[in-house]
Amino acid sequence: MAIVVNLEDERGKKAKSFDALVALVKDDLEKVNRTIVDRMHSPVELIPQLAGHIIAAGGKRLRPVLTLASAKLAGHAGERHIKLAACVEFIHTATLLHDDVVDESELRRGQASANALFGNKPSVLVGDFLFSRSFELMVEDGSLAVLAILSRASSVIAEGEVLQLITANDTETGEDAYLEVIRSKTAALFAAACRIGAVVADKPKVEEEALESYGLNLGIAFQLIDDVLDYSAKQAVLGKTVGDDFREGKITLPVILAFRRGDDEERAFWRRCLEELDQTDEDIARAIKLMEKHGSLAATIARARHYGEIARDALGIFPDSPVKQAMIDVIDFCIDRAY
Ligand code: IPE
Ligand code: IPE
Ligand code: MG
Ligand code: MG
Repeated sequence: MAIVVNLEDERGKKAKSFDALVALVKDDLEKVNRTIVDRMHSPVELIPQLAGHIIAAGGKRLRPVLTLASAKLAGHAGERHIKLAACVEFIHTATLLHDDVVDESELRRGQASANALFGNKPSVLVGDFLFSRSFELMVEDGSLAVLAILSRASSVIAEGEVLQLITANDTETGEDAYLEVIRSKTAALFAAACRIGAVVADKPKVEEEALESYGLNLGIAFQLIDDVLDYSAKQAVLGKTVGDDFREGKITLPVILAFRRGDDEERAFWRRCLEELDQTDEDIARAIKLMEKHGSLAATIARARHYGEIARDALGIFPDSPVKQAMIDVIDFCIDRAY
């Protein structure tokens, strides 16, 4: 699908880059990537084969970078954050493997998804392996506080995905229920990834909580934009199939707002497409037209900016530094990103 919506005014002309933050944690990130590759191994060959496929396809490594940056911001001097950042990426990768099965997605990180290539069963089981491996890494770290944060995040993610399953194809879903889903399925891991940075640095609760709030609100903004991109991105840049959410009847904020702002005839259209999944090839174009008419993509971006502001203010208690500035810039990157 070609780019259909011009959102330049809402999203800023030039996206902020994520490079500055990556550059600040570059050496640590290399160690994390080595740990990821080392620890995805298993004598059962299909495991490193499948895990290696999705891991080698890249991805932004946003969550482990946030762990490294948070540890740096909190003044951690040791090496504990390396294994924990790898652990965070394992949890993320496991959820992607499971999510692509549930969403029947065929493209991930610009490549055929693991489920498309290897099938659903191996994807689910290797996802389980990566989840379990992440717990081994937590245990090796030895901190019950870290274990509590990451294990809680893991169950909240699963709750979010189940909650989403329940709201799927239900056009009556409201904004609050949607927010609960994205807070759980996406923001919880961002929050945990950041919070453990303060925990390894042995910082007071206020700093832990500030980093958690930064991560949580950044994560909400991130998923709001992900849901905009599903209707507006260039597929080749995004590396995922654009329009998947519509085809599977996922109720995201752009849909919720267009549905609520629309008239009876429009609501009948949304019900046919998203509840009955009775769709023709032209329907997605009509959906996007209705979103433009009601400004629902632009409003979703405005909501993302709001959560971005909360994230920025959460960092206010930390003294100015290059890493703090780069973490602030990452907020704009997450909102203005095209991939
Ligand atoms: C994808 O996350 C899943 C969502 C929460 C939307 P990313 O966009 O961070 O995926 P990768 O790791 O860069 O591929
Ligand atoms: C995020 O939701 C999934 C997880 C948090 C695992 P999506 O289903 O929108 O993510 P993508 O678009 O497939 O990456
Ligand atoms: Mg998905
Ligand atoms: Mg998505």
